[in-house]
Amino acid sequence: MDIGIDQIGFYTPNKFVDMVDLANARNQDPNKFLIGIGQDRMAVADKTQDAVAMGINATAEYLDQVDLEQLGLLIFATESGIDQSKSASLFVKEALNLPANIRTFEIKEACFALTAALQVARDYVRAHPHHSAMIIGSDIARYGLNTAGEVTQGAGAISMLIKESPAIIALEDGHASYSENINDFWRPNGSPVAMVDGHYSRDVYLDFFKETFKEYLAQTKLTVSDFAGICYHLPYTKMGFKAHRIAIQGQDEETAKRLSDNFQLSAKYSRQVGNIYTASLYMSILSLLENGDLEAGDRIGFFSYGSGAMAEFFSGKVVDGYQRRLRPGLHKRMLQERTRLGVGQYEDIFTEGLENLPENVEFESDANHGTWFLAGQEGYVRK
Ligand code: CAA
Repeated sequence: MDIGIDQIGFYTPNKFVDMVDLANARNQDPNKFLIGIGQDRMAVADKTQDAVAMGINATAEYLDQVDLEQLGLLIFATESGIDQSKSASLFVKEALNLPANIRTFEIKEACFALTAALQVARDYVRAHPHHSAMIIGSDIARYGLNTAGEVTQGAGAISMLIKESPAIIALEDGHASYSENINDFWRPNGSPVAMVDGHYSRDVYLDFFKETFKEYLAQTKLTVSDFAGICYHLPYTKMGFKAHRIAIQGQDEETAKRLSDNFQLSAKYSRQVGNIYTASLYMSILSLLENGDLEAGDRIGFFSYGSGAMAEFFSGKVVDGYQRRLRPGLHKRMLQERTRLGVGQYEDIFTEGLENLPENVEFESDANHGTWFLAGQEGYVRK
């Protein structure tokens, strides 16, 4: 039975900072950000677009095409959680009127968490044929003003429907996992920004890629030339490009060119949005599907990495007619129609913060009509 991705919804907030503006404000050469890091813009979430609101917006995009009687599972993956106890998924479930009899919870392991949700969803569908699972990854990447990580921030969400006979990607059997308890990136309780050992995290990412890719090829007897493309977790696009260079080492010209072209297409959305932690790998898959020219049966490799650290390599095949399930026009408009913030405006939003909201507060949203947003809280109950 084929199981995989049947729907993908995407949301990113309506504001961004241009990397040239940020570089100028930080006395850096713009080419360091544009070429050295590989980012053009970064999305900025104001306090009305928390992880929950973005997750609802991404899911609302395809909800009218879901058979809710078949839905059995809803998992919310995030490292921008809004509560130490209650799952973000319950807010989504209520907002979108999802059935009361589904199993629902939140899941965490840094940027790996949406892959964890995907694998749990796949096992769920395998055990419950004719049922489907909804999985959401939604995050706001924050390192702090004037930090080395500032240029690798971003905000957004991906929501996917996982079911049998999927319309977009059929997952293949097998996966190579690798984990170690290390301190490359973490966010202690109470800290609104992540702590990171940036160069160490880059090295561990590459070590884990080598480990899982080698193991996956050995396990499946596939070769690099069997892949039409490989999508990577992209905390910034240069990071994935470094792993891509390792993947194509020693390959013939045709394979190297195919994987290189498809890498660039997979990085298009990320260049405009920045890091969205849990959903970053899946935004790169969406970018390749919506900007590329894949054929039915093409094999795509997926490298998922979550600091701390946990990594996995797996693969899937593109399904015939997948283009009909995508909404490239909607996503390109969402990216084009954003407001360009001055660096001062972005700093004000950043300083105002997203956490420790007062007991009673109301917010207005300047997002497009129909966009879900956090309207404030009453007695610490979010609205
Ligand atoms: N023109 C072109 N390129 C230039 C340049 C210029 N004028 N000036 C510098 N560069 C290049 C450098 O040569 C370097 O390229 P290489 O990596 O190919 O050598 C690149 O720009 C970056 O330069 P630095 O390493 O000196 O940059 P930095 O010290 O400011 O830090 C960073 C970069 C480590 C990525 C930092 O932004 C950071 O800590 N980011 C957050 C952590 C992160 O994203 N880690 C990734 C792995 S962890 C993960 O994946 C989980 C997650 O989501 C966080």
